Amino acid sequence: MTSYKAFRIHRDNAQHSAGIEELELQAPDEGELLIRVKYSSINYKDALAGTGKAQILRHYPLTGGIDACGEVTESNDRRFKPGDSVIVTGYELSATADGGYAEYLRVPADWAIPLPDGLTAAQSMALGTAGFTAALALYRMEINGQKPDMGPILITGATGGVGCFAVNIFDGEGFEVNAVTGKADQHGYLEHLGAQEVLGREKVTTYHHALERGHWGGAVDNVGGEMLSSITRKIRPWGNIAAIGLAGGHELNTTVMPFILRGVSLLGINSAGCPYEIREEIWQRLATDLKPRHLDDIVTQTVTLEQLPEVFDQMLEGQIMGRTVVSL
Ligand SMILES: NC(=O)c1ccc[n+]([C@@H]2O[C@H](COP(=O)([O-])OP(=O)(O)OC[C@H]3O[C@@H](n4cnc5c(N)ncnc54)[C@H](OP(=O)(O)O)[C@@H]3O)[C@@H](O)[C@H]2O)c1
Repeated sequence: MTSYKAFRIHRDNAQHSAGIEELELQAPDEGELLIRVKYSSINYKDALAGTGKAQILRHYPLTGGIDACGEVTESNDRRFKPGDSVIVTGYELSATADGGYAEYLRVPADWAIPLPDGLTAAQSMALGTAGFTAALALYRMEINGQKPDMGPILITGATGGVGCFAVNIFDGEGFEVNAVTGKADQHGYLEHLGAQEVLGREKVTTYHHALERGHWGGAVDNVGGEMLSSITRKIRPWGNIAAIGLAGGHELNTTVMPFILRGVSLLGINSAGCPYEIREEIWQRLATDLKPRHLDDIVTQTVTLEQLPEVFDQMLEGQIMGRTVVSL
């Protein structure tokens, strides 16, 4: 029996532990694929799961990692054959099913997206859930009528994985981008990625009224809490806010005024549960018209399974810039 390496997460008697283990390879069931994983990535959710700082897993033990790209080695589904390159992001990875921090991954074929022409396996994981989520925000905002002439797009948590891609992708689509960061020394980096103005967090989080002057045409928020509470009050009529993250808090303190007096829309972005057809379309676009021009500059490091715990801690302390790819 072949064995393989995986980064496993345990919870026994409310005690969290995680590390690399050797597991035995199992053949895929009907409708499943066995994938030889080449690359994965590190997202905020992976750091929460891997450190046990939030209960992301709903079964224990499991292999961590919400993203994977690799080659099919066995297929029990007619749509895929050995040798096909596939991407799997979200769904139940590292929630109720084993995730991408392993040399092999067994998943339902329904979760696999063929790697589009125009992206390498490494590039697909440089994007990973972060790039996909930034593109999903753009997709939903455009469907809801967001246009560049409605005003600048505010992007919070801008030096994070989702934030960097959002800055690059919205700029590439012709929007003026205003980026918000807590990293005073990274304004130049964000301007290089496409931000026309870079603001400190405190410039955005202060508010006094249910409705403030409309500063921005729309927003992509990775932070939640007081940041999102403030943004809802400062969006111009008919603008959209894509609510993505909670790096700064999960609460939302606002009123109905922005929604009923300005027609502002709060769009929930849920990448893990995104329907298959929309996933396929977004991955195609990430390989073509939405492919970030600065993809290589957004990948700041490539690490091994052994380095995961160290990077998780740095990420939760807000020290990581851009994207970290995991090479298997
Ligand atoms: N809804 C979805 O489908 C989905 C998908 C992916 C990610 N997410 C969520 O989106 C968020 C960003 O994910 P990510 O992978 O990009 O994480 P990340 O790389 O760690 O980026 C998060 C960024 O948020 C900012 N930040 C961190 N702590 C903060 C605080 N206390 N107050 C204000 N800003 C803070 C930092 O940016 P600056 O230093 O530049 O301010 C940090 O780089 C996370 O909450 C994640 O769970 C949601």
